Amino acid sequence: MNGHLKIAVQKKGRLADKSLELLKRCGLEIENYNERLFVSARNFDLDILFLRDDDIPEYVQDGVADIGIVGENVVREKRSNLSIERKLGFSKCRLMLASPENIQLDALKELSGKSIATSHPNILSEFLDENKISAKVIQISGSVEIAPSVGIADFICDLVSTGNTLKFNKLKQRWCIFESEAVLIKNNSLNNSKSDLYNNLLKRIDSSLTARKSKYIMMNIPKESLESVTKIIPSLKSPTVLPLADETSLAVHAVIPTDKFWEIIDELKMNGASGILSLPIENMIS
Ligand code: PRP
Ligand code: ZN
Repeated sequence: MNGHLKIAVQKKGRLADKSLELLKRCGLEIENYNERLFVSARNFDLDILFLRDDDIPEYVQDGVADIGIVGENVVREKRSNLSIERKLGFSKCRLMLASPENIQLDALKELSGKSIATSHPNILSEFLDENKISAKVIQISGSVEIAPSVGIADFICDLVSTGNTLKFNKLKQRWCIFESEAVLIKNNSLNNSKSDLYNNLLKRIDSSLTARKSKYIMMNIPKESLESVTKIIPSLKSPTVLPLADETSLAVHAVIPTDKFWEIIDELKMNGASGILSLPIENMIS
């Protein structure tokens, strides 16, 4: 017991790399974690435990880890009452009901009396109950996608991100029953010193999440476009405008929302902007 805050992250799988990436963006130095069960950050009182994602909610609930990064689907499937502190915006995927491609299936109620294989029996059962469908839920822990072809079940309910696994197994996406992404979870009873560490880390996570929502752009514009360009850029503050050697032009720097990036760029170009550069923002601290 070294008083360090302990964070559980996935050892291998869809969240593993991005979870560490997030921690590094928070300024943590983490090295040599290959094949190790845990490492300490070099410049923050934080230990990182590498676990199977299915185990993470329980470890956090029991206080073996103080906080964790895990898929929302796992938290919900484990029915843990841990609060979700933040949605982290990566490893997005959808829990989908899928059927063999060649089967006609138009309405949910056609699932009645059929069997559905899944590694998410709780979420699926809740969904079926809500929709008053009585189907047989068959729990399997992996390779759900092969269930129909080997005759274990009529349909499946599985995570989909690119959709390649389904396509490869000649399955068709039908209904999304849960949308998931990586989330930050926390044990409910951290002591004071751990709470302080946690709040410090959370501040860094928040600044990194905000930063990712924005991009920094730089461009040259004809002087007479300044007014129209300023209107296009919904900056937090007004953009920075700098004179250029060529007196007919100005350089403009601004922060724009990532989700409107291409729209804004197109409009800027229509208003004469040229030499547009964009840079990712590492942190945004208010
Ligand atoms: C999920 C799911 C599929 C795959 C779908 O498994 O069970 O196998 O991802 O992804 P795709 O739509 O990009 O092809 P995951 O990688 O989470 O591993 P697991 O089944 O071992 O938990
Ligand atoms: Zn899988």
